[in-house]
Amino acid sequence: MEELEAEKHVKYILSVEKKKDDIESLVMEHLRLNGAYWGLTTLDLLQKLGSVDQDEVVSWVMKCQHDCGGFAGNIGHDPHILYTLSAVQILALLDKLDVLDVAKLSNYIAGLQNEDGSFSGDMWGEIDTRFSYCAICCLSLLHCLDKIDVEKAVNYIVSCKNLDGGFGCTPGGESHAGQIFCCVGALAITGSLHHVDKDLLGWWLCERQDKGGGLNGRPEKLPDVCYSWWVLSSLIMIDRVHWIDKNKLATFILKCQDKENGGISDRPDDAVDIFHTYFGVAGLSLLEYPGLKPIDPAYALPVDVVNRIFFGR
Ligand code: FPP
Ligand code: ZN
Repeated sequence: MEELEAEKHVKYILSVEKKKDDIESLVMEHLRLNGAYWGLTTLDLLQKLGSVDQDEVVSWVMKCQHDCGGFAGNIGHDPHILYTLSAVQILALLDKLDVLDVAKLSNYIAGLQNEDGSFSGDMWGEIDTRFSYCAICCLSLLHCLDKIDVEKAVNYIVSCKNLDGGFGCTPGGESHAGQIFCCVGALAITGSLHHVDKDLLGWWLCERQDKGGGLNGRPEKLPDVCYSWWVLSSLIMIDRVHWIDKNKLATFILKCQDKENGGISDRPDDAVDIFHTYFGVAGLSLLEYPGLKPIDPAYALPVDVVNRIFFGR
């Protein structure tokens, strides 16, 4: 098996962090907070979080917050629950959750819950189970799940369950591994995994592995490194990870590395990006690759960070 080019990936992440004027940075401009979460979490998994100026990160993250309590993807952009989760995860990672006005932030999130238990992503109202996950994950990390109607939130997620055992974005939506992560993660965090048919969903998820070892997100799609996270974390949460070939998956992820300049791509020989670099390293962490910190499959944060938040150690 090829080896993880850990040092090169650290260099690649730090270089993305600095670049501000190329085309990739322009495309990323409005979701820079997501990019920062992907990059910083990868650095922490590689045990290199000390290589960034943490105070500078915290001060920039806080400048992305609006008066309503929600965070935007960058300074001067509109707030959305997707970026709000990234902000909370970054502050959790840096052990700086105490800079937050928790009442203001949790009121913003609670205000996005709809009558049927679903969540809108922002004031414009789009509904998606991704937003249910973001809301539940954020509030749980802030110890204030009691700000929302958890029972209704869980019932809405269960209403998005399909006959194949998977979950979609809204009721009747096609099963998709990304949405399955969100729904299973939200059910895991709220202690509601009894709503999942683990054998049925486990079969659907393990059928995502192709002959080359990579995982796809839906039937007939190409394998993609990011599904190493969406599928694998779900399999772990429902205790069916032994149903896939873990060695073959690790080999596939390692083949997607740029061995010269660092970074990981969606599939072998494609261009690398920070999103797939994070999901590749996070996938290897779930596979217990040596030298990486373990990551929590539900909160998508290193296990030591989650333990610090919930057990104070
Ligand atoms: C696939 O997207 C992924 C999803 C639909 C899930 C996204 C989940 C979140 C935003 C919640 C936060 C996530 C974490 C890890 C904390 P895609 O658009 O790439 O799908 P495609 O492969 O079908 O194009
Ligand atoms: Zn991908």
